[in-house]
Amino acid sequence: MQPIVLTHGGAGGPSADAPEPPNARSEWAAACQHAAQAGLAALVAASSDQSLAAVIAAAIILEDDPRFNAGTGANLRLDGSLELDASLATSDGRFAAVACLRATKNPVLVARAVMNTPHILLCGEGATRFARQQGFPEAAMVTEKALKRWKAARERLQSGNLRPYEERWRDMQFHGTIGAVARAPDGTFAVSCSTGGTSMMLPGRIGDTPIWGAGVFAGEHGAVCATGHGELCIKRMGAFSVYQRMAAGADAQEAIEAEVKAFPHPFEVGFIAVGKTSHGMAATDDYMPRGAAS
Ligand code: GLY
Repeated sequence: MQPIVLTHGGAGGPSADAPEPPNARSEWAAACQHAAQAGLAALVAASSDQSLAAVIAAAIILEDDPRFNAGTGANLRLDGSLELDASLATSDGRFAAVACLRATKNPVLVARAVMNTPHILLCGEGATRFARQQGFPEAAMVTEKALKRWKAARERLQSGNLRPYEERWRDMQFHGTIGAVARAPDGTFAVSCSTGGTSMMLPGRIGDTPIWGAGVFAGEHGAVCATGHGELCIKRMGAFSVYQRMAAGADAQEAIEAEVKAFPHPFEVGFIAVGKTSHGMAATDDYMPRGAAS
């Protein structure tokens, strides 16, 4: 099979209090393309578990890029704390995730370490303690941009000047999850996903990223990664819904477009997916930086 790696840098358009810098879209797309190429290089270099090696390598690059809401640069919670979610899944049935992980540079690598345990999901203090035990040091990861977003979110909350989709807060923008999917020559698939959550959230909030079938899904028909409004993605089982469409015979692009279309307005969502013979990428308003390497 032809190897391929796809990446994304998160769905969700710019807002009035966080206007898009000039050339931002092309620069974010270039970063996603670089991550996809690094994923493909890791796939080719790996002697086993090639698709997993690819999605981990791609995710690390995007987690380390402070422009994306994952790892370094992740959004802050309303109390100013930083908690991270990440997951990995493979088509042979492995799944592992961390949620509300604190001060750890590459949550996707901690998810990889969870894969070696009897568990599939560690959260909060237990996840952070596990990371330290596994040799992942405490890291300072709060960026100026994250602080600016946090201040803006608190101001909106205090003033009541919330965005239309923030009506239950009233705001849930800046999802900005990162993710990768890969197909290896041996026909295996894998997916990685990592996020700092949304712009307005309580400590302890967990979105779709570390939830099987919501943020990620992988099986014999392919691998899917979701980004966007985490709460709705969990309720709709976003990644699994796309996968089911692929299993029923849709090609990856058709499957994604159908699920994006079905996602309730005004909430934003995006997906990337690889199947045996197809791949696809799409998001609400087509706003999702992305990369592809094959
Ligand atoms: N999709 C990322 C989140 O809602 O946490």
